[in-house]
Amino acid sequence: MKRIHVFTLVPQAFAWFVAQHPLADAVDRGLVDIVVHNIRDYTRLSHHAVDDTPYGGGAGMVIRVDVVAWALEAVFGIPAVEVRAERDVLVLAPGGRPFDDAEAGRLATSPRDVVLLCGRYEGFDARVKDLLATGALSVGPYVLAGGEVAAMAVVEAAVRKIPGVLGNEESTWEESFSGGLGGAVEYPHYTRPREFLGSEVPEILLGGHHAEIAAWRRRQAVTSPWEGWCSVAGSGGLEAAAPESRGGIPVGESGQDLPSGG
Ligand SMILES: C[S@@+](CC[C@H](N)C(=O)[O-])C[C@H]1O[C@@H](n2cnc3c(N)ncnc32)[C@H](O)[C@@H]1O
Repeated sequence: MKRIHVFTLVPQAFAWFVAQHPLADAVDRGLVDIVVHNIRDYTRLSHHAVDDTPYGGGAGMVIRVDVVAWALEAVFGIPAVEVRAERDVLVLAPGGRPFDDAEAGRLATSPRDVVLLCGRYEGFDARVKDLLATGALSVGPYVLAGGEVAAMAVVEAAVRKIPGVLGNEESTWEESFSGGLGGAVEYPHYTRPREFLGSEVPEILLGGHHAEIAAWRRRQAVTSPWEGWCSVAGSGGLEAAAPESRGGIPVGESGQDLPSGG
């Protein structure tokens, strides 16, 4: 079973999160374990301190590397520098590697457990990444107050891709950025009412012609606005997507039938 460890200074932020679908079901069914650790519980500094002023001066406080090392050692029972040997130890950081659908799939299917380190204040001492982590992940080119929301994005996107977590109806195969859509953004969905404020559901969706509907949906899937940021999860794009596993959505021979506009 895959284990995801989250190290944070705000563990209470995860109480609601882990109780939601599909995480809670996935945990109940033994497909994943999500363990949240309070970094502050492991500090040996007086007053439960975890941070200090930056060398060189400047605003804000920096989370100390020794405090993170103590937390990792206590949880895993081995020297902190060895934790990353068999796990993906990832610092959440604005300047980290862009987190995308492909990375979510990789984390979901890799046999390695995942350790996410959530910063606060000015972030971690740089040696956390250099000595203790396997890399850093960013959820976008903007700055959050802490790594918790970023970690939740990573956990939720990855857990949805663990085989067996979602049923067929919710499959991730044909979602935005997925291999099933060649990395494109999913086609639009409609439900009742059929007309709202003069806006009607496209006629083609009402006729019951499955092949035509599938072709229409295919045409509606548009190039991702994140192109360049996202890579498509090990799919090789539409070319590599097996027709029989595309949920019945026909693709042009060359896979070039996606409009290029976004
Ligand atoms: C206020 S931020 C620190 C920002 C840092 N001083 C900088 O300018 O890059 C505090 C923490 O929030 C998290 N964080 C903020 N933005 C993030 C993003 N876009 N992706 C991932 N983590 C982020 C990181 O864990 C970071 O250590």
